[in-house]
Amino acid sequence: MSQPLRVGVAGLGTVGGGVVRLLREQADLLALRCGRPIVVVAASARDLKKKRDVDLSGIRLESDPMALATAKDIDVVVEVMGGSDGPARQLVEAAIANGKSLVTANKALLALHGAEIARLAEAKGTLLGFEASVAGGIPIIKALREGLVGNRVKRLYGILNGTCNYILTTMRETKRDFGDVLAEAQKLGYAEADPSFDIDGVDAAHKLSILAAAAFGAPVNFAGVHVEGIRRVGALDIAFAEELEYRIKLLGVARETENGIEQRVHPCMVSNKTPIAHVDGVFNAVVVEGDFVGTAMFQGRGAGAGPTASAVVADLVDVARGHGLPPFVVPTAKLSAKPVASIEKRRGAYYMRLMVLDRPGVIADITAALRDENVSLESMLQHGRSHGPNDSVPVVLVTHETEELAMRRAVTRIAALNTVIEPPNLIRIEDF
Ligand code: NAP
Ligand code: HSE
Repeated sequence: MSQPLRVGVAGLGTVGGGVVRLLREQADLLALRCGRPIVVVAASARDLKKKRDVDLSGIRLESDPMALATAKDIDVVVEVMGGSDGPARQLVEAAIANGKSLVTANKALLALHGAEIARLAEAKGTLLGFEASVAGGIPIIKALREGLVGNRVKRLYGILNGTCNYILTTMRETKRDFGDVLAEAQKLGYAEADPSFDIDGVDAAHKLSILAAAAFGAPVNFAGVHVEGIRRVGALDIAFAEELEYRIKLLGVARETENGIEQRVHPCMVSNKTPIAHVDGVFNAVVVEGDFVGTAMFQGRGAGAGPTASAVVADLVDVARGHGLPPFVVPTAKLSAKPVASIEKRRGAYYMRLMVLDRPGVIADITAALRDENVSLESMLQHGRSHGPNDSVPVVLVTHETEELAMRRAVTRIAALNTVIEPPNLIRIEDF
């Protein structure tokens, strides 16, 4: 059998521990499949005294991850520390500069520096893998790079954050409000102690920007993603969505349009007849629409030690086999920056939920604002008389397809009415 692939793992937390365990438990299978063993020779963590529930025997432990970048007995560095800059970025750049291949699960790093890191790896002739950075165990990067490579991607969209999907699913199933379910998700260890990256949509936006780069042949453009999180989705919205036969999901949507690349992450209403509406709990899903393949949907666990290690190891197997494909599907010199298509140009239907004073003429004022912006209504819901604060009632309006800019202008006017007592809650309806 040929020489083993010698691995250095930077980070022994959830993902790093999972990678070490998988490589140990599947050692024979992987050696057979690669034609050579994959062996962890060294690993690093901040606190080397911390008790880890993974067998680290025979692995050299380093307190400084940079030791992995320079070690002569390491062929490939696995970066699973996290953080878009600082130690993770320094390690990645140093490892590549030293001619080592690099595998990472770090979507924050790739979203901000992905194109540059890919360029460094290409210039050095080393391999770069980041399958684990998007949708955990779902092999979506490989799908775009290999299985779907014969297609022009027309659109892709997906549930890219398990924490948000868990919160929205639980709100619907238990009819509880956002804050309550978030606290539970934190207690169960799903959401981070500081959950803002998850619930404000930033984590999903990191992942979407990586997917869009691979799908559309452009450098990763995280700054070009329109991002809204799920804090404003209330129990009332979930209940109205059910009544209208929709489900609310935090989606990332990317499309190449005549105005450039559209990338957006926000809560969406999706018909409860679509498959993605039924991807619940901590599961992720990505749907790719290709010109020849049609619609392909990938579903699975987006986080956790096992699924994420599965993706990291797939990249390691590529390195072991010497499979050097361009990380973002085309060589970095051919990635071409494209304009950002403004969300203001989005055309689609909208759900708008208002809390209004229960007085004559209120609806006339609201519909006048919509009429003036040429926004046509499909339906309106109001149940019973006042039961909210200050004699208010919830009113829901569903529009026909319209341009986002017109909708925003109408919302600004509606929000200024003194009979509308809370900022309108606007949720885009996606027609999949
Ligand atoms: P984690 O459990 O917090 O583990 C991070 C590890 O890195 C720990 O072992 C920590 O050492 C070490 N570390 C952190 N900062 C360091 C520093 N400055 N110097 C040296 N070591 C340092 O994180 P994780 O959940 O495994 O996530 C790792 C990466 O994978 C992140 O980029 C994350 O976004 C990504 N990811 C995670 C998941 C998931 O399900 N968790 C899924 C997909 C992608 P100590 O143990 O001593 O503190
Ligand atoms: N915080 C992420 C999520 C973990 O909830 O999906 C995996 O990227």
